[in-house]
Amino acid sequence: MTLRKFVSTALLAALVACSGAKNENTAAPQSSPVLFTEEAKDMHSFARPEEARVKHVSLELTADFDAKVMKGAATLDLETAPGAKEVVLDSKNLVVSRITDAEGRALPFALGKGDAIRGQPLTVQLGGAKKIVVNYASAPGAAALQWLSPAQTAGKQHPYLFSQGQAILNRTWIPTQDSPGIRQTWDATITVPEELTAVMSAEMLTPEGEETDGGRVFRFRMDKPVAPYLIAIAVGDLEFKELGPRTGVWTEPAMLEKSAWEFADLEKMVSAAEGLYGPYRWGRYDLLVLPPSFPFGGMENPRLTFLTPTVIAGDRSLVSLIAHELAHSWSGNLVTNATWDDFWLNEGFTTYFENRIMEAMEGKERAAMLADLGWSDMEQAFADVGGPQSKDAQLHLDLDGRDPDDGMTNVAYEKGAVFLRTIEQAVGREKWDAYLKSYFDRFAFQPQTSAGLIADMRKNLFDGDESVEKQIGIEQWIYQPGVPRNAVHLKAASFAAIDSAARAFAGGQAAASIDASKWSTQERVRFLNALPRKLTPAQLADLDATWKLGSAGNSEIRFAWLMLAVANRYDPATASADQFLTGMGRRKFVSPLFEALEKQGDWGKPIAAGIYAKARPGYHSVTIATVDKALGWKA
Ligand code: BES
Ligand code: ZN
Repeated sequence: MTLRKFVSTALLAALVACSGAKNENTAAPQSSPVLFTEEAKDMHSFARPEEARVKHVSLELTADFDAKVMKGAATLDLETAPGAKEVVLDSKNLVVSRITDAEGRALPFALGKGDAIRGQPLTVQLGGAKKIVVNYASAPGAAALQWLSPAQTAGKQHPYLFSQGQAILNRTWIPTQDSPGIRQTWDATITVPEELTAVMSAEMLTPEGEETDGGRVFRFRMDKPVAPYLIAIAVGDLEFKELGPRTGVWTEPAMLEKSAWEFADLEKMVSAAEGLYGPYRWGRYDLLVLPPSFPFGGMENPRLTFLTPTVIAGDRSLVSLIAHELAHSWSGNLVTNATWDDFWLNEGFTTYFENRIMEAMEGKERAAMLADLGWSDMEQAFADVGGPQSKDAQLHLDLDGRDPDDGMTNVAYEKGAVFLRTIEQAVGREKWDAYLKSYFDRFAFQPQTSAGLIADMRKNLFDGDESVEKQIGIEQWIYQPGVPRNAVHLKAASFAAIDSAARAFAGGQAAASIDASKWSTQERVRFLNALPRKLTPAQLADLDATWKLGSAGNSEIRFAWLMLAVANRYDPATASADQFLTGMGRRKFVSPLFEALEKQGDWGKPIAAGIYAKARPGYHSVTIATVDKALGWKA
């Protein structure tokens, strides 16, 4: 591995040496040598960690619901190289009023020009300071924050705020070094209106909050070093229900019972995950079920996974999403992609691990169904990025100069998972599981790169046996587009019958003559996706009437149906699409549906425009950014 030339070996050694973790269960150093390799250079951050690096962030902020801004101060503890004169932070549209040292002496600072993707470098002259206090406010349109009106919540009485940091959005509300390789411990003191509750991705020190004249104050602490995109907050009318000794669910009162029922097996799931890849290291594992505009299925914020309400199907059929976010407690939160070029190290490992958790929870056949659906998603992902030979069909990406979001496709998830499954079969499950477990231990609380993984596999998995490595072709898997021929495609036995039912239906058989009464959600989704994109209006009406697809409460089934209906320009489904798209803002559903409508030219474009005009104001900025691009929408 070549070190970046301007980092002297001595400086590197000094930085690594003085960065030992403080808590016993984080035995590994916080700065890993991998951070200083060429592949670990983060093009999406202005930070120069080899010179001055943020170690701890202390937030003291007020959530101002009238102005829709977070305002207050961030105190940063720095680790500096000998002679370091300045620290460079990431900022995007932050309004910085004053920066001082710990004694309150003003420090000179400047916001550089920056660019539209990364924001602005915030450079502070240190004058020897190792602690700085940044007084600032977020901008009203900060991309990480969504401020919801009472009408956008379940209870309709109180406003709501939530943040979404991944990938590079946290710099719109926290002035720190916003790079996944620069792990930081943090704490926060948050003041909110007195009728609201604040929760964060950290230990909650004041569960009830403390009254002050202006409202209620909540305190939080994260004493494990985390990537800064994992700092998250939500403020609203929130209640908690315990699910197990270290698990529970937060949500609005109107959603609490439903949520607790849906996730009743959470404690078991955490134990299942531990049984696979070692101890859960974050203490509690709670869920937060957000309002419907939450742009993702889930977000793995440490100790507190953020979730879309669309995962609540009423029958626990979509809990693999929880398995996914839980798996990130190892792949992603413990071992973290050093840069967004290696996003697959987070998502591919997690998608593989998710499937293993589901196998442990619900058995091999369910896991095979989920993996088989994943295989189809992978093929769709290749099509979406311009074919399997496109650059974006690689696992390791080159996102320099691009928005990291552009590279965050299902290729990372599904090709990544298939790759790991292929290794599993090549070396055997026992050896592979032992390796993975040791991998999470070896790299706990550290950044990782593709090159770092390959080196580690050579040492600790292949034991110098080049033939296995060659047989798998690990470099081809990671650095070349498409799927190598040795890819392991897990097939669900039950899908054979589903696929033949789909063929029969396409060939003219009536829906009522298909006995789908025992089909699982995964089988229903498979059936809908297996149907040809060209059916007659009578066939679509038959499907809709027989299985009530247009009003399906299961979001995955509703989505699969609407994709089929749109591909067929099926007018009667327009109202259902309208209701679905204005009722939630989960990007995975919203964006493909709008794109599909857009593709239907004269028929679909006006429908898309009409629905989007209504829905857009309710969406989170990340969903808006994606759909604006797809529809060529000018705000
Ligand atoms: N970490 C991701 C969400 C994410 C990805 C946020 C990229 C920002 C940028 C999360 O773990 C995730 O993958 N969520 C999926 C669900 C999962 C079951 C595939 C989602 O949102 O649909
Ligand atoms: Zn994920």
